[in-house]
Amino acid sequence: MLASVKDILWEAKNNGYAVGAFNASNMEVAQAIIRAAAKKKCPAIIQVTEKTLSYAGDSVIVEVIKAVIEKESGSLPIGFHLDHGRSLEVVARAIELGITSVMIDASRSDLQDNIAITKRVVDFAHPKKVAVQAEIGNVPRLGEIDQNPNWDKIMTDPLEAKWLVEETGVDALAIGIGNAHDFFRERPEPDWERLDSIHKLLPDIPLILHGASDWVNHKVVEAVKRGVVCFNVDTDLRIAFNTTLCQFTHDKCDILDPRKILAEARDAVQKVVEKKIDLFRNLK
Ligand code: 13P
Repeated sequence: MLASVKDILWEAKNNGYAVGAFNASNMEVAQAIIRAAAKKKCPAIIQVTEKTLSYAGDSVIVEVIKAVIEKESGSLPIGFHLDHGRSLEVVARAIELGITSVMIDASRSDLQDNIAITKRVVDFAHPKKVAVQAEIGNVPRLGEIDQNPNWDKIMTDPLEAKWLVEETGVDALAIGIGNAHDFFRERPEPDWERLDSIHKLLPDIPLILHGASDWVNHKVVEAVKRGVVCFNVDTDLRIAFNTTLCQFTHDKCDILDPRKILAEARDAVQKVVEKKIDLFRNLK
């Protein structure tokens, strides 16, 4: 059942567990995510990026994902979210397409600009009953900055985070505590004191952790204790999908039916999502 991302995050927050927000760029990955959530009977968030909208043709992928949610999830709450919207235009495009939770990522701008852009998005989205996630601090990805960054300089400043939330009225906040996207080398241990401070200053904001593909049990447990309610996962799903495809294309492939290959890739992604859901929910 298509459900409010905000409600899903608050349900997790109130009950001391976390959910996964998983990126989908095609039908098979969307099915894998929803099937895993349905099998585990655990709410989940499925998300798309601007690149995915452009790749698939906006309404095409949005309608496919909505149809998959409708068909495969029964009464289980599934949220649909725009990941890393970089401008008001992209956010407006997603909302126009019927996506009811959006991220505005102005984290590469300075604080004043981040606040101004985020506020403009909130003012646009909230009257339309669309929830907004902002980001403050840098969650690096490969090729963007030096592989050995000065983490103290780029992680979220707790007071700045509080300021951004108060000035903008966002519904959720993505933070940087040494986490990173894709194959970027993370800080050896996340900055737990920093996360503690953010959580103490902002006890009523669901905190989102991007770059969670390589997060293991002890990190997840510590993060949830300190207010993280959602972990974003994309890279591990891509690896599962691509590795399966490669198994067929490396050797001379005599399978004529692409559905046979895609179904295998879909199953591989589903297994990964199931493991992530267990990791985020069973916190011991
Ligand atoms: P990973 O690259 O660790 O999967 O993170 C994905 C992400 O944060 C998407 O927003």
